[in-house]
Amino acid sequence: MNVLNWKNIVLIILSFISIFCLFIFFIIPNNFSKISIPHSSSLPSSPSLSVIEEAEKRAVSRISYTVVADHEINKMKNSSNLEKIEGGLAKSRALIKKHAAAGNEMIDDYVPSGSVYWKPDLFHRSYLVMEKELKIYVYEEGNPPVFHDAPCDGILGMEGIFINDMEISRFRTRDPEEAHLFFLPFSIVSIVHYVYVRETRLWSDMKNTVVDYVNVIAEKYPYWNRSHGADHFMLACHDWGPEISSAIPTLYKNSIRALCNANTSEGFNLTRDVSIPEIYLPHGTTEGLLGGPSPSKRTTLVFFSGGVHGYIRQVLLEHWENKTEDGVKIQKYLSKGQNYYDEVRKSKYCICASGWEVASPRMVEALYMGCVPVLVKDHYAKPFNDVLDWRKFSIDIGLENIPNLKTILMGISQRKYIRLQRNGVQVRKHFVVNLPPKRYDVFHMILHSIWLRRLNTRIHDPHEQP
Ligand SMILES: *[C@@H]1O[C@H](CO)[C@@H](O)[C@H](O)[C@H]1NC(C)=O
Ligand SMILES: *[C@@H]1O[C@H](CO)[C@@H](O)[C@H](O)[C@H]1NC(C)=O
Ligand SMILES: *[C@@H]1O[C@H](CO)[C@@H](O)[C@H](O)[C@H]1NC(C)=O
Ligand SMILES: *[C@@H]1O[C@H](CO)[C@@H](O)[C@H](O)[C@H]1NC(C)=O
Ligand SMILES: *[C@@H]1O[C@H](CO)[C@@H](O)[C@H](O)[C@H]1NC(C)=O
Repeated sequence: MNVLNWKNIVLIILSFISIFCLFIFFIIPNNFSKISIPHSSSLPSSPSLSVIEEAEKRAVSRISYTVVADHEINKMKNSSNLEKIEGGLAKSRALIKKHAAAGNEMIDDYVPSGSVYWKPDLFHRSYLVMEKELKIYVYEEGNPPVFHDAPCDGILGMEGIFINDMEISRFRTRDPEEAHLFFLPFSIVSIVHYVYVRETRLWSDMKNTVVDYVNVIAEKYPYWNRSHGADHFMLACHDWGPEISSAIPTLYKNSIRALCNANTSEGFNLTRDVSIPEIYLPHGTTEGLLGGPSPSKRTTLVFFSGGVHGYIRQVLLEHWENKTEDGVKIQKYLSKGQNYYDEVRKSKYCICASGWEVASPRMVEALYMGCVPVLVKDHYAKPFNDVLDWRKFSIDIGLENIPNLKTILMGISQRKYIRLQRNGVQVRKHFVVNLPPKRYDVFHMILHSIWLRRLNTRIHDPHEQP
């Protein structure tokens, strides 16, 4: 890790170890209740002991697999290691909860604070415990370019960026016996590129690639069968990630899927899956993309430029294309001499509308350049919703409100706009791609979301009777 003084952090964590408990079950129940689907039981938003107990029960009961054949048991290396792992996670949960209850300030070079976080202290503690504890095993099977590699450029670059970061990450362990999580290092972008035959339009070869991979690791190691995939995760930015993952029912149902295409109407599960941002870096780095003029220098009220991809944009453009009144600038394609990023920098609000799929790099572009994102999306799970309160730095416009777009934005007071804009600048760091990764950046936020899902899962030892 970088500049952070690890010795200090570790010392502080140790010295507070006795008071160090009550957190995940603040952050998990609260945030999960905020992001939970309407019919699921939602927990009260202010933390109380009953909430914590409730969450503890949920965590314990979520996953329990107890029926495993004898020959499988014999193949297990050492199940007391699983107890150790689960014991460690229980300790992490307790540490986070107790510490947050004690309200101690941690010394850190970044201390999350302010209204952009649902629970800044809890996030902070959970993050620090993650840094201290989390261990991820990356399966080594499979050869590039389909495994262990993917392009880092283009709008789907997060796949390559994450896979490469993971390979060199300090969270990576070479000993699967001590891992909390197992990463399946295939790239959907690469599978589509190398395995898909355009002419045949068949899904089967792509799906079989993933099925074969999981069969290989399930045969060779005890870990997949042990949890039925529940402590395994995959990551995909390609639109087809969800569909390809459905080829393996246990992967689809049990594993953590980190997806750009986080469409809750297509099986994305808010309590188990992780939404990750789509990020487009034209030159492979964020150089020249971060920052923009202050609010007072932004002359365009609202900007959008993009093709008629999908039903949302169709409605948007039908209503607003080329209407230029009162600082509205909504158009299909850029005219000569217009530069996309310059337009974003000149604007107060930037429309981030879904295209063919829910995700789009516009949201992060707006945040990078200090433009307040106006999300026009349906069924979209926003990235890092478990930690960040998107209402504090973005605007949601439902499809039915597109005709009122201008009225809605003009109705936002200057004071509120300034707050939204500042908050957007504050959360920017959580969306920044650093090479190599830095603390609290997008790589670590993705890991943190995965860590929360893992903390909320209990894997039972198949030897143990319930
Ligand atoms: C299993 O792991 C525990 C703790 O690491 C160790 O004490 C024990 O000797 C191991 N048993 C076997 C059979 O490897
Ligand atoms: C895991 O289960 C599959 C299917 O039941 C089986 O073929 C495989 O051998 C098992 N793996 C191990 C390591 O026991
Ligand atoms: C989402 O996942 C959780 C945990 O695995 C599960 O309990 C729940 O039923 C799932 N929800 C849906 C809608 O599938
Ligand atoms: C909007 O302006 C562009 C460029 O001037 C033009 O090509 C397009 O037809 C216009 N669309 C509408 C709906 O007016
Ligand atoms: C999300 O999924 C639903 C159900 O499949 C689909 O109708 C909708 O078009 C998807 N959203 C986007 C933006 O693609």
